[in-house]
Amino acid sequence: MGKHKERIAVAKITIVGAGPGSPEYITPIARRTVQKAQLVIGAERALNMLQSDIKGEKLALTAKNVNELLQHAIISAKEGKTVVLLSTGDPGFSGLLGTFLSLTQARSVEIEVIPGVSALQVCAARLCMCWDDAYLFSFHKGADNEKKAELLEAAKKGKDIILLPDPKSFPPAEIAKFLTDNGVDGKTPVFVCENLTLNNERIISSTLEEISTMSFSSLCILALRSSYKQGAKQ
Ligand SMILES: C[S@@+](CC[C@H](N)C(=O)[O-])C[C@H]1O[C@@H](n2cnc3c(N)ncnc32)[C@H](O)[C@@H]1O
Repeated sequence: MGKHKERIAVAKITIVGAGPGSPEYITPIARRTVQKAQLVIGAERALNMLQSDIKGEKLALTAKNVNELLQHAIISAKEGKTVVLLSTGDPGFSGLLGTFLSLTQARSVEIEVIPGVSALQVCAARLCMCWDDAYLFSFHKGADNEKKAELLEAAKKGKDIILLPDPKSFPPAEIAKFLTDNGVDGKTPVFVCENLTLNNERIISSTLEEISTMSFSSLCILALRSSYKQGAKQ
């Protein structure tokens, strides 16, 4: 009697990084992968970035439909569809990879990640900054006390810090106030990198005390550089 093997449908999902905004930062493999997809799911901004490459069905993620659409992605992949999840920047830094992994724990889903250029990399490049030893923080999903305490500790130690603010609850001004209120020197050099790679890109060089009174585009990254000296070699 021949052995009978039960076939379990394994869904394969590809998560593609769409880069920070400009078409010039979209990789050829990201475009090719999206062109081949029968279903592309991503936030409106990510879908717009690769609009001309999307040939299949596209579905826009919103704060309300994330779980529903990611479940739909898995079901569609199990049915044999080529499915792409499109994330801005790199999927692994505050992107769709984390969201998808927490949803798919213990499920038979094969994930392939196509990396993208992260806004974090562009920020470091614009500031001519090596980020080997930098502390990275993302407050994009909100700022809890534990994470804020870790940020404060790193700032007090004078570490280089690159962080994604939360545009609503923890924007750059609130971050600066939080740090100075808790003993970090108000003269600490800070850079805010807005709308990176886009036509309205702006790099603001300032200090914590000045930033605490300013407002910025929601698309921004903040870099704290305690040891930065104006005009000095980086
Ligand atoms: C959901 S996170 C996505 C980050 C993305 N995965 C990456 O690697 O760049 C969105 C946040 O990233 C930052 N961001 C993304 N694109 C940016 C850009 N072009 N310029 C400045 N900040 C950007 C902003 O802080 C924005 O609120």
